Amino acid sequence: MIPSPSPHHERPVLSVIDSLRTLEGGGFPVRRPFPTRELIQFDPFLLLDHLGPVTWGPGEGIGAPDHPHRGFETVTYLLSGGFQHKDSAGHAGKLTPGDVQWMTAGSGVVHSELPSDEFMRDGGVMHGFQIWVNLPARDKMMKPRYQEIPAAGIPEAVSADGKVKVRVVAGEALGKKAVIDTRTPIYYLHFTLQPGGDVTQAVPAGFNALVYLISGEVKTGKEQKPVREGQMAALGDGDSVRLAVASDAAAPADFLLLAGQPLNEPVARYGPFVMNTREEIEQAFRDYQSGRMGQIDSQPAK
Ligand code: CO
Repeated sequence: MIPSPSPHHERPVLSVIDSLRTLEGGGFPVRRPFPTRELIQFDPFLLLDHLGPVTWGPGEGIGAPDHPHRGFETVTYLLSGGFQHKDSAGHAGKLTPGDVQWMTAGSGVVHSELPSDEFMRDGGVMHGFQIWVNLPARDKMMKPRYQEIPAAGIPEAVSADGKVKVRVVAGEALGKKAVIDTRTPIYYLHFTLQPGGDVTQAVPAGFNALVYLISGEVKTGKEQKPVREGQMAALGDGDSVRLAVASDAAAPADFLLLAGQPLNEPVARYGPFVMNTREEIEQAFRDYQSGRMGQIDSQPAK
């Protein structure tokens, strides 16, 4: 008989790391726990960018003009501000606070991610996330796919005591299941815990899992290690993770819990392309340069 895993094996904290501060795209400020020299990826996650919060005046907003991607997915989650997206596969969309855009670049797209016209006109606070999720070798050349879920379509749950709120972008939490379809099993949960909030979240054994603090302070892992704004906790294996906020905390804790089944495949990465071999990267450059990833329709939007 194969022994079943112990029902409550709480994950420990392996390390708590500080984000690197850098500029991305046309020059917007991000905090980035990875990739860095110390942590090149967190399989299956390739990048975690916390954009802002940054206040721009009218006309000052900065985004990322036309650029290609191949071999992975870009996931954008906006907390404040406004973005517009356009790509060579004919997808166009607007992101407002709470919306999620899950773009599967697959064989290749050229896209632009720019502040929305309204944001450029009025200015405001831009705040959000972009993560990159690697695709397994079998899906790297799939047809590009675009899923955009408005804020109202993201399942939300609140604990019985009202102190734990979760938005379920991917995976499941507090009895709610995500509506976004992922190529490999992923958890993307946005938790807000009030002082005294305490939750134990199931995360399948074998998945890589992390907690990233947007604001406040949460205690996590079986050691109940504190994690603060801009820090990421890498969790060890287990089938659940405990997250709690001190009852005398001055503010709520706002954080992401990301987890995914590792691909355990070779990663060849160069700029906007992530493949398995160097030859595939060279092919990606040739395909992009010869226009095989297409172009964004240059007609002005109506
Ligand atoms: Co992009």
